[in-house]
Amino acid sequence: MRENRSNRGVWGSKIGFTLAAAGSAIGLGNIWLFPTVAGQNGGAAFVLIYVGCVLLIGVPVMIAELSLGRRAQSDPVGTFKSLAPKTWWKAVGALGVFTGFMILSAYTVVAGWTVKYILITVSGQFAGANPESIGRIFTEFVGDGFAVLLYHFVFMALTVWIVIGGIEKGIEKATKILMPLLFGLLLLLVLRSVTLQGAVEGVTFYLYPDFSKVTFGVIMAALGQAFFSLSLGMGAMITYGSYLSRNDNLVSSALYVSLADTLIAFLAGFAIFPALFSVSGLSPTEGASLIFLVLPNIFNAIPLGQLFGAAFFFLLAIAALTSTISLLEVVVAYLIDQLQWQRKLAALLVGSSAFLLGIPSALSNGSVSFLSQLWKSSQETLSLMDLVFLYFGKISLAVGALLICLFVGWKWGIRSALKEIRSGYPSFALAPLWTFLVRYACPVAIAIILASYFRS
Ligand code: PFF
Repeated sequence: MRENRSNRGVWGSKIGFTLAAAGSAIGLGNIWLFPTVAGQNGGAAFVLIYVGCVLLIGVPVMIAELSLGRRAQSDPVGTFKSLAPKTWWKAVGALGVFTGFMILSAYTVVAGWTVKYILITVSGQFAGANPESIGRIFTEFVGDGFAVLLYHFVFMALTVWIVIGGIEKGIEKATKILMPLLFGLLLLLVLRSVTLQGAVEGVTFYLYPDFSKVTFGVIMAALGQAFFSLSLGMGAMITYGSYLSRNDNLVSSALYVSLADTLIAFLAGFAIFPALFSVSGLSPTEGASLIFLVLPNIFNAIPLGQLFGAAFFFLLAIAALTSTISLLEVVVAYLIDQLQWQRKLAALLVGSSAFLLGIPSALSNGSVSFLSQLWKSSQETLSLMDLVFLYFGKISLAVGALLICLFVGWKWGIRSALKEIRSGYPSFALAPLWTFLVRYACPVAIAIILASYFRS
């Protein structure tokens, strides 16, 4: 067991932390949403802008969150309470905990769909089915309230079970196995996808940057995607940072996590676009239905498709699981640290309430439009689930990230933050750049995104 300033849980190893934090970041946002958003926003040009957003905004905010958590050794609320006692700043932590709880309730519903899709694919139901019957299988499933709730429950139970295991034995152990498995499976799929007939067209679409398609909206889409994908703005990284030891290098941790997250998203595009183009009649701008409605067609059209299909949905479920674990952990850490609850009781109670809260969301879905709405302003009617993702997955995370930058840059103070960062990385040569980004560039950029949400 490594040492930190308190006797709370602590990561057993640096690689264990990095994998768990990368696990939080990598989820439905990367494998499902990233290719969808990239497809709708010009392919490679979007990818380049996205990388810029990750480096200039995502990484600095992540370093800020990690330094807060490790300094305070506490949950998000406790962190603000201890670094700015008797101020309203603790509300930022409370907003994060509440946001985590709300996102969890809806996220596990979709994560449950991925489990159902593993089973449908394994059972061979998609084999030989035409696009209409594949569409019908999906519509029938999401319309079957009992089945949707069952998988929502299964996924929540799995998440609770791992979080009860605690930091080193639960979260760290699970992600140490799951994350490399995810990476390996994705590589396998990429190899299969790029070697399909006609794949070159898809690769070209994905790699040829068409800057004429870049508008202000595309830049907004990239920024929004970066927050959700990197799990920033609700204290997930504050919580994971609180289990880090004093001599860990926060800067390299943030870089590794962001790199892994971006790499997986990039690879997901490589798994999907070439395969998509090899099946005629499908469009890369398909939207959020890309995976659930379109991929089974693709798997049907390739050799060993049943196997690759099952592997893909398994991979998606793994990615979602390591994200739901972090969503639940944020709330559980709050109850353990602030209200002295037992981990087991906290995980069970929060998991059950999030399950119950998710029921209306689960039953409100006749379509998979919800995540695509996140980064588009649309006049279409939104389901309850759409609304949960919109208000908590999008707006609340941006507000949280903005307030975290302001807190670190102006309230807790850059000096205190740098002292914390330097305890594990004395030379931190890019400190002036990080300071500029956290104090000025990031808050301004995030404020612009928020303004655009409210304007539309
Ligand atoms: N980053 C996750 C994804 O890309 O699917 C979603 C998420 C997890 C957002 C944890 C926020 C969070 F705290």
